[in-house]
Amino acid sequence: MYKTHTCGELRHEHIGQEVSLAGWVHRRRDHGGLVFLDLRDRFGLVQVVTNPEVYPEIHRLTGPVRMEWVIQVEGVVRARPAGSENPHMPTGEIEVDVRQFRVLNSSKPLPFMISSEEETDEHTRLRYRYLDLRRERMQKNLLLRHRVVKFIRHYLDEHGFLEIETPIMFKTTPEGARDYLVPSRLHPGEFYALPQSPQQLKQLLMVAGVERYFQIARCFRDEDQRGDRQPEFTQLDLEMSFVHREDVMQLVEKMFTRLVAEVVPHKRLLASPFPRLTYQQTLDRFGKDNPDLRYGLELQDVSDLAAGCGFQVFENAVSSGGHVRGINASGLGEYSRKQLDELSDYVRQFGAKGLAYLAITAQGDQRSSFAKYLPEDRIQLLLERMQAQPGDLLLFVADKPAVVYESLARLRVMLAERLNLADPNVLAFCWVIDFPFVQWNETEQRWDPSHHPFTAPMYDDIPLLDIEPGQARGQQYDLVLNNYEVGGGSIRIHDRQLQEKVFKLIGLELETARQRFGHLLEAFEYGTPPHGGIAPGIDRLCMVLADEPNIREVIAFPKNQTARDVMANAPSPVDEVQLKDLHIKIDRI
Ligand code: AMO
Ligand code: AMP
Repeated sequence: MYKTHTCGELRHEHIGQEVSLAGWVHRRRDHGGLVFLDLRDRFGLVQVVTNPEVYPEIHRLTGPVRMEWVIQVEGVVRARPAGSENPHMPTGEIEVDVRQFRVLNSSKPLPFMISSEEETDEHTRLRYRYLDLRRERMQKNLLLRHRVVKFIRHYLDEHGFLEIETPIMFKTTPEGARDYLVPSRLHPGEFYALPQSPQQLKQLLMVAGVERYFQIARCFRDEDQRGDRQPEFTQLDLEMSFVHREDVMQLVEKMFTRLVAEVVPHKRLLASPFPRLTYQQTLDRFGKDNPDLRYGLELQDVSDLAAGCGFQVFENAVSSGGHVRGINASGLGEYSRKQLDELSDYVRQFGAKGLAYLAITAQGDQRSSFAKYLPEDRIQLLLERMQAQPGDLLLFVADKPAVVYESLARLRVMLAERLNLADPNVLAFCWVIDFPFVQWNETEQRWDPSHHPFTAPMYDDIPLLDIEPGQARGQQYDLVLNNYEVGGGSIRIHDRQLQEKVFKLIGLELETARQRFGHLLEAFEYGTPPHGGIAPGIDRLCMVLADEPNIREVIAFPKNQTARDVMANAPSPVDEVQLKDLHIKIDRI
């Protein structure tokens, strides 16, 4: 071994010991002839000192050494001179007096500093990811992720789960995205699909009698990128037999409650047990089904007060089947016209045609873009409904429900950020249940599954599938944490007839369904137990636990916003020979 100790572990009690250390030069300072190097390894930093008078030869060797050179030192641990201790460093009481010094490798000047968290553009960070990962923030994130996964493995093992790997080269497993395809050399013109999740395979494991399965599973989805999405990402995929929705939710809730206490003890749960909201409640209160429960600013429905109120915008929205809903942005009653216009521009991005406001100053004076059209008693009712106080700002959107929900949901999150309402140390988990089983796809003119096609409808709602599919609820549950959907799952269909009926409902012809999912349909005829499961997204979970603004910060080698690995430059063209082997011709554009 190059080292007897790690850089981070030396303390007062090591004083007098001879040690060997190896690592990277984090900082270099030259002081009155002495050279001080902060030596870093994964476990911490320690100060090493060379003295030109006592060991001139060694001192000479340190001459060319610069940041991020890799060195090995042997020396004696000693107390730092009184007054030069560093209370901010765990090893700040001591230093190592160097007796042997070896350069193991040099480093070119760096594209960015490792030793400071100075802002570096993301492209450069990803281009030199191996350097970026040396930084403290990234090392912390890697460690956190390791601890999360280690905890999960241990917890599920204790609860009788088996970890089983499933194939990456498989067949289409729809989760609402496009597939990544792998061409086959041995079977010209045929393709494997990378799994969007191991959904079908875990269900087949239930048919196989495994009863409790989990996997830290890589999933692949070709979809539009966002801050909380990656084309390949990791799920804690799990499945259980002989369970109801409640059993799966309880298990996951207990696991995450303990995980928080053990892995991120500085954080606290907002509520335990996790609150449960129906899909409709989440929309009505927060405008979206992955709400942040750490603050108020809830939506209020004022559609009933809008009908016949005298303000055309409100009246028209309601009479054409839309809604009028508002938010009380408490404390912003003094916003200027310019600030109000900015808010209005903000919601326009999400389809709103405007943002009607009623602002109340601390003295109680009102300014409004629409109150002049309303009779006084209607305004009073509106103020009461919105629980308005002096100093408040009431903001309203009138439109089709989807536009009202989306624009106010976005406005709510934006205002909360601006007002600093979300405590980063609070984890607000909640469950969303009672999703509609299917949703109407206007473009394709067909029903789409709310979750995936293997989710079971509520058994009481099965008759609705024939008459009013839009009214049927699914046995789906989503786990939400601080503004993100961190998990989705359901009780599954385990009966061939019902599965075929659902395929038909979502527009899959029987023939196509059998081609794609014949293996599953067939398996359902051989004694399939009732089963259900869930798949929390590990990346999203770690992102929230690490207080990171996007998922790339908790993935060692992520793709960028255009699904490209800029370090290795992937995707990239391949040799003609490879293409020929795969029987592929490229249409160059
Ligand atoms: P679902 O599609 O809801 O369910 O995915 C489960 C969870 O995976 C995470 N996730 C993602 N994370 C990062 N990047 C992405 N592109 C991405 N897509 C999804 C989210 C999400 O909640 N087979 C079902 C699970 C089941 O029914 O058991 C499934 O995959 O946190
Ligand atoms: P106007 O009719 O142009 O005087 O608009 C009055 C106010 O209504 C302005 O503040 C607009 O931003 C707002 N407004 C217009 N359309 C809508 C809408 N669909 N929902 C909410 N406010 C709107």
